[in-house]
Order: sequence, then C-alpha cells, then structure tokens
Amino acid sequence: MRQKITVVGAGNVGATTAQRLAERDYADVVLVDIVEGMPQGKALDLNQAGPVVGYEPSITGSNSYDETSGSDIVVITSGLPRKPGMSRDDLLAANKKVVEQVTKEVSDRSPDSIIICVTNPLDAMCHVALEVSGFPRQRVIGMAGILDSARFRTFLAWELGVSARDVTGFVLGGHGDTMVPVVSYTNVAGVPVTQKIDAMRLEEIVQRTRDGGAEVVKLLKAGSAFYAPAAAVAEMVDSIVFDQKRVLPCAAYCDGEYGIDGLFVGVPVKLGREGVEEIVEIELSDEEMKDLQRSAGSVRELVDAMAKL
Ligand SMILES: NC(=O)c1ccc[n+]([C@@H]2O[C@H](COP(=O)([O-])OP(=O)(O)OC[C@H]3O[C@@H](n4cnc5c(N)ncnc54)[C@H](O)[C@@H]3O)[C@@H](O)[C@H]2O)c1
Repeated sequence: MRQKITVVGAGNVGATTAQRLAERDYADVVLVDIVEGMPQGKALDLNQAGPVVGYEPSITGSNSYDETSGSDIVVITSGLPRKPGMSRDDLLAANKKVVEQVTKEVSDRSPDSIIICVTNPLDAMCHVALEVSGFPRQRVIGMAGILDSARFRTFLAWELGVSARDVTGFVLGGHGDTMVPVVSYTNVAGVPVTQKIDAMRLEEIVQRTRDGGAEVVKLLKAGSAFYAPAAAVAEMVDSIVFDQKRVLPCAAYCDGEYGIDGLFVGVPVKLGREGVEEIVEIELSDEEMKDLQRSAGSVRELVDAMAKL
C-alpha cells in the first residue's frame, strides 16, 4: 500500500530526504517548513522531476500541518544546523523549542506514526520527541549511527581500495564527539579490519570518523552535511515500510539494554514495520563498553541540562 510520509523542515536535509523518498515512488510525501512558499516551491520542483526520473508527482509542500494527517512516518529535520566551530550541543536551546512545537503538531495529527528524528543535538532531541508525542519507545527513533557508520565505511574503503559495499562497520553511542566506532565488529567481507590496517592508522580513521560532520561543516562554511544524512534516513524508512528488519545503528531509547537506563543512545536495532522491534545487544570489549558508557554519560548531561532550560 502507498505510504504517507511527512518531512518537517524543507532545508538541506529535509528537501534531500523528500527527493530520495519521492524517487523511491512508494509514498506520498508532505514537506513542511515555516518559510512561506519554500516547501511549496521545492515540492513543485520535485513533482516536475517525476516524469523525467519516473515517479508519481505526489509531493505536497505546506506551511501548515493539516496536510500531514494520517502519516505513517514523520521525519523531523527542522531546526538550526551548526556553523563552523560550533558543536552539535550548542544547538540545544534553539532546537528544543522547534522540536517540541513540531512534535506536538505531527503527533496530534498522526497518532500512529513512527517518528524519525534528525535534528541535532540528536539524542537529546529524540527525548523531546518521545516526551511530547507520548508515543511508545518503539516509535521514536533517531538517525545518526547509519551516517556515522557510513563515514567510517567510506574512509575504510578508501584506505583499503575496496568497494564500500563490502565494508561493514558500526558506530554506536551518542551522536557527538564521544561516538564509538566499534572496531571489533568492523570488517571487509568478513575479514576483521584489524588484520588489514595497523592500530595507529586505524585510530586516525576512527578520529576522522568522529570529526566527520565537523569536516564537512568546515568546508561548507554555511550549513552542514545533507546528502549522506538524507540517504541514511531513506535507508531507515525503507526498512520500516518494507518490514525489512534490517539491523542498523540508530538512536533508540534504552531501558536497561547495554546497562543504559532511560536514555536515547546509538545502538544496533532491528527496524521493521513496528519501528524499533529489538535493541540488539552485541558483546563489546571492556574498552568499547567503557567508551559506550562514557558516551551515554555525555548524552545524560545534555538531557539534564535540557531539563533546566
Ligand atoms: N542526525 C544527524 O546525523 C544529522 C545530520 C545532518 C544534519 N542534522 C541536523 O538536522 C537539522 C537540519 O539540518 P539542515 O542542514 O537541513 O538545516 P537547514 O537550515 O538547511 O534546514 C532546516 C529547516 O528547518 C526549518 N525550520 C526551522 N524551524 C522550524 C519550525 N518550527 N517548523 C518547521 N520548520 C522549521 C527552517 O526554515 C529550515 O528550512 C539540523 O539540526 C542539523 O544539525 C542532523
């Protein structure tokens, strides 16, 4: 059955996500933004690409939420991106207000939807979406791990001169400077990367992954990454719409898993029709577990700081 997907925020990430989803041709897409005319204009432009690319022109742009009613999936990308020198956490106060307001609007009109949050600081914004919507934890998911892992996989593919498709890697933890690229589960067609790259070089690649977002921000000067983030969102949407049960790193609300309680953190999840159908617990080395707990600690600090705003 054709799906209905709302994308809130028609900026770089939102519009590119709408494009990727439109090109898949399995959903009617509603694009919402506060800037007058902008979502309508981008939707019109996207519709007019339909006959050329080969998809139905069923994208609606709007400044209001009435058109979003009954959405199966809502992607929240509204809010400020970072500027050079800023950390994702610097966006906390401004984006909290945006995500609160948007979540209220969409959850009232699409009470059975699954929310995919993209706005930064990601893990904290997932808390806002969960609280304001009152949805069960299975239906509020954050996009970050797929993107961070894709960066890791790209750098590893370049290093080894192999196809990026054959590089598997997980980046777990909060979507910030403390993220945890899990080297022990990173392999090339099943061969552990530790057999192919020496420890020092691997550490450099891990660090470049952690700084992956900042590297793009520095080059762009205005705005942050959006092609890879939008691709990551579309992979999550595919897995939900087609009940693929892909195991993907996403921000999910942990309720004891990995010893983390009441917190959104990047963990491997099974994504299907119901949203997060399982948080997959993998065995981590002592060091990796320590890093994951440290990363969860910095998400906790942010969530606590947000409560005081
Ligand atoms: N989770 C991730 O891995 C990841 C990756 C990339 C970007 N991001 C985050 O996604 C967000 C969007 O990034 P972007 O590059 O698309 O930014 P952008 O500035 O291009 O677009 C954001 C859009 O949100 C709109 N907006 C602001 N307030 C709104 C409101 N109350 N209601 C509806 N729309 C509103 C703005 O008008 C703008 O068009 C940022 O917070 C960014 O940091 C997260």
